[in-house]
Amino acid sequence: MTVVIAGISGAIGSALAERFLTERPDEPLIGLARHLDKVGERLREHPGVHLIAWQAELPLDLTQHPDVEALLESAHGQISLIYATGLLHDGDIAPEKRVEDINQASLLRAFQVNCVGFGLLVQTLAPWFRGKQLTRVAAVSAKVGSISDNQLGGWYAYRCSKAALNMMVKNLSVELPRKYSPIACVALHPGTTRSVLSEPFSQSLAKLTVHEPDATATHLYGILSDVSEADNGRFISWDGQDLPW
Ligand SMILES: NC(=O)c1ccc[n+]([C@@H]2O[C@H](COP(=O)([O-])OP(=O)(O)OC[C@H]3O[C@@H](n4cnc5c(N)ncnc54)[C@H](OP(=O)(O)O)[C@@H]3O)[C@@H](O)[C@H]2O)c1
Repeated sequence: MTVVIAGISGAIGSALAERFLTERPDEPLIGLARHLDKVGERLREHPGVHLIAWQAELPLDLTQHPDVEALLESAHGQISLIYATGLLHDGDIAPEKRVEDINQASLLRAFQVNCVGFGLLVQTLAPWFRGKQLTRVAAVSAKVGSISDNQLGGWYAYRCSKAALNMMVKNLSVELPRKYSPIACVALHPGTTRSVLSEPFSQSLAKLTVHEPDATATHLYGILSDVSEADNGRFISWDGQDLPW
């Protein structure tokens, strides 16, 4: 299996990469990150890991990476794309509490990173999905992107962009099988996980179960290993349960 992980510098992306390398040490792994120096040393130096600098806001130009194109070309068996990129807050963006906090720039950035980047990446990689035994396309989404589960409100940019990501997954799950069968295109909720993204909320998270990234990677790896064509179009929680869209 050839695996592509977008957001390999993140807590969940890097833990997933480590899990794949442990379970499938001889299979190539392509990692995308905006700052390659933020990728952990072990991953950076692993001979099976091919890193590409990439920004979710821009399309990936694979013609600039002929070695990676060759890897994808030779991926005869299975191919998996995991989008573990995500933005909840940074120096410019903070989750909104009320309507007065809604901000155009924050909304646009969240949509770009959490949804648009995923759609463009699938578009770029789709030609290599053809003729595989199984293609897996998994977007790491979030339960707070569920429209019907939303009881609390707030977090406008993050919730809306994750809901849009979920629709992107659902749409792709309808279209992709027409050309690239067999395929499983799914949205995954990783569960609350210790990371830069969740760190500012550690006080409120105290009431929740917070998973370490390794544990989350174990959960998600298990789901991804088990998915088949029959799971195409599901929104799956870390414990394997279906979530409402
Ligand atoms: N942690 C949780 O509790 C939790 C819960 C539900 C869902 N999720 C989802 O899980 C995914 C992974 O989150 P995480 O907890 O592992 O957070 P994280 O450690 O902050 O990782 C986020 C990743 O996204 C990358 N990223 C952000 N903006 C980018 C951009 N413009 N271009 C390219 N890459 C960009 C980051 O790159 P840099 O390293 O360069 O910043 C990092 O690799 C996200 O989609 C998040 O929404 C997390």
